[in-house]
Amino acid sequence: MDNREEELIRRLERKHHLTEAEYAALIRGRDAEAAAILAELACAARKTVFGDTVYTRGLIEISSICRNNCLYCGIRRDNGNAQRYRLTREEILACADEGYGLGFRTFVLQGGEDPYFTDDILCGIVSAIKETHPDCAVTLSMGERSRDSYRALYEAGADRYLLRHETADAAHYTRLHPAEMSFENRMRCLEELREIGYQVGCGFMVGSPFQTEETLAKDLAFIESFRPEMCGIGPFIPHHDTPFAGEEAGSVELTLFLLSVIRLILPEVLLPATTALGTLDPAGREKGILAGANVVMPNLSPVAVRKKYELYDNKICTGEESAQCLGCLQARVQRTGYRLVSDRGDAPGFSGRRSGG
Ligand code: SAM
Ligand code: FES
Repeated sequence: MDNREEELIRRLERKHHLTEAEYAALIRGRDAEAAAILAELACAARKTVFGDTVYTRGLIEISSICRNNCLYCGIRRDNGNAQRYRLTREEILACADEGYGLGFRTFVLQGGEDPYFTDDILCGIVSAIKETHPDCAVTLSMGERSRDSYRALYEAGADRYLLRHETADAAHYTRLHPAEMSFENRMRCLEELREIGYQVGCGFMVGSPFQTEETLAKDLAFIESFRPEMCGIGPFIPHHDTPFAGEEAGSVELTLFLLSVIRLILPEVLLPATTALGTLDPAGREKGILAGANVVMPNLSPVAVRKKYELYDNKICTGEESAQCLGCLQARVQRTGYRLVSDRGDAPGFSGRRSGG
């Protein structure tokens, strides 16, 4: 690590800000020593805000049916080999009930953009979960919808929304998505979610095809200005039935580096150690926590469908029962010296209309 690299790291820690050119230089100049210092500072920043706690969210993958055709994604519309399923309302509510019994107080409903989940149907499911479990937060990750739809879901009780921006570089976005999808619409969705009052999560894949230090620098500058309450980043992993089948996977090392950078940009952000990270490295999620992540998302989906929600090859946690998944993550978190807690874990500085409610 040279003096310039160290100066950038120290300034990032103090000011929570670098220019785009500086972010690119920080990434390009990184080495093991820089990563170690960043991780140490990131853990210190997290400790000030969150102590030694790591939050847990129960993930329910409600549908593998998708009208979109993202080039990287295993459940894209054109993948004729994908196994499609859709959970019924009763199955989703049963997953939430089981999760509640296991101690979960946040449920994340994620799925492809399945036209079956109209506002009426999804609002009914959200309000049923909130009625049965009023002490829980409901997070949605159901892709791009209209402002009216986001509003209706919020009024039905949804608290948070995860919608990765995927890349903050418009030209890069067009290379990862079909022509019918647009960067402008993705950004429109994020802005509207924020305006409505959601705790909002953005994020991106590390090592997606055509990604460069410059596009990553734009991602970091975007995160700095958008100030999401949550930020999901994980390595890109190719899926054999997609146009990106032959591309290289992203790197664990760069993902960990960027987790630390993001923690220093936004000390209060909720930052998951993702399943994709655990897929590329058996100790990936533990390493993620030690780099500054503070959320894990055990899978609560019925075991019978888990393998069908195949976004990328070799996805882990597809054979376990929910309780096993939780137990495994509990043990992993404990090994890092942190403590898995089950409270709602709202974003600490959040001042939206329904913060903590
Ligand atoms: N349909 C919703 C959406 O588009 O936001 C949620 C589901 S989508 C599958 C969730 C995330 O999975 C995407 O935002 C993307 O970043 C990630 N993902 C998709 N394919 C991936 C791959 N091959 N490797 C790693 N992550 C992937
Ligand atoms: Fe729709 Fe991936 S293309 S969830």
